[in-house]
Amino acid sequence: MKKSISGFSKLSKLGKLKWLVENFFKDPERVMKDLMSYWLHDEEKQKIIDGFSENTISNFYLPYGVAPNFLINEKTYCVPMVIEESSVVAAAASAAKFWLHRGGFHAEVISTKKVGQIHFCWDGNHHTLNKHLPEIKQLMYDQTADLTKNMRKRGGGIVGIELLDLSHIEPSCYQLHVKFETVDSMGANFINSVLEKLAKILDNYVKEHLTENSEDDGVEIIMSILSNYTPECLVRAWVVCPVSDLGEQKGAINSDEFARRFQKAVRIAHIDPYRATTHNKGIFNGIDAVVLATANDFRAVEACGHAYAARDGQYRSLTDCSVADGIFKFSIEMPLALGTIGGLTSLHPMAKRSLELLGHPDAGTLMMIIASIGLAQNFAAIRSLVTTGIQQGHMRMHLINILNRLDASEREMDQSIAFFSDRVVSHAAVRSHLALLRSKRAPEENTAILPT
Ligand code: MEV
Repeated sequence: MKKSISGFSKLSKLGKLKWLVENFFKDPERVMKDLMSYWLHDEEKQKIIDGFSENTISNFYLPYGVAPNFLINEKTYCVPMVIEESSVVAAAASAAKFWLHRGGFHAEVISTKKVGQIHFCWDGNHHTLNKHLPEIKQLMYDQTADLTKNMRKRGGGIVGIELLDLSHIEPSCYQLHVKFETVDSMGANFINSVLEKLAKILDNYVKEHLTENSEDDGVEIIMSILSNYTPECLVRAWVVCPVSDLGEQKGAINSDEFARRFQKAVRIAHIDPYRATTHNKGIFNGIDAVVLATANDFRAVEACGHAYAARDGQYRSLTDCSVADGIFKFSIEMPLALGTIGGLTSLHPMAKRSLELLGHPDAGTLMMIIASIGLAQNFAAIRSLVTTGIQQGHMRMHLINILNRLDASEREMDQSIAFFSDRVVSHAAVRSHLALLRSKRAPEENTAILPT
């Protein structure tokens, strides 16, 4: 069996698929058919999707759901969510509905700056570099004017250049820390192109003005790249209402008790990194789902969010809760670097629909929507955790998944959901319950046979 290959990327899509199924699968013909069954019928669209990545052989589907009734800053949204985990969309929708009648979500963008870095080594005197910095910076602004022209027209561009001396931590290490405004685009390509140009300008300047002899090479540029840590691209969202308006919760928990338990749960996520990780994971269940639906970069958003959660040296909750003077307030503050124009947001056919569904938001509005979803998701999770426990909701979805896999009819679904409302759900238990239901029924009513 030949399992390595050179020139794979040059094969046609069918050629790649053929090589793959022949070398890695027992039933090549069947697998080939199966993988091809996920190709889009619309060849134009398939070509667009294929173009996003390399060595594409098929598509991997995830559910595209929506959470309606999200009232955010007085406007109602139906929010698109792409996620494979059951209960996430249902939880978001239920939190949205809960807050719809309690003033909804409030949100504000605090700042929108992004960061790029040029890491370089310099063995000369740092005072010399500092002395020349104003001149270097001016050259940098002037010589990137062409590159930044369009962005400046939209209100963005380079907004600051700072020299950081890191040589006390790592020998010869310096950094140009560059701040950018990229308006409605995520701006990764823009930032990286500008940084590479700035690095050349720095290198040339040092060679021309600061190098003492011709053998001295001046600065050594190590790398130029944006930072995904954007603590100054920050958004805040919150919900607030009188404690008494929270109402009685499942498990006969009154609103005072609920608020107290809820606040305690958030505090625990502040003091314990084990809990904080799960707590924030739940927040990202919602955030990632919308980030994906709008074709933004969920890895960047996650990396940044987690770094921000650990900004004081300990990993903590991204949300906060206060209960004071009879008022319950629950909030989130986190960095979200997003785009609503450019990149995949305007190429991916489904992302275009998502943005249309959200009313073509600018990047700031999308930040506020996504922060609100994260908060809603966290609210729903904590509400379950401190009242009924999380399994009740999860098990219903789990049950439905098992019933679907066992080809349950609508009637069998209803009967099984009622039967398992106070029983532990397991695959074996659902199978035997279905078998019992089917054995009790007249043979002509039984259309489904349990798969083995
Ligand atoms: C599950 O995906 C997410 C939760 O564990 C979050 C949490 O515990 O807060 C329910």
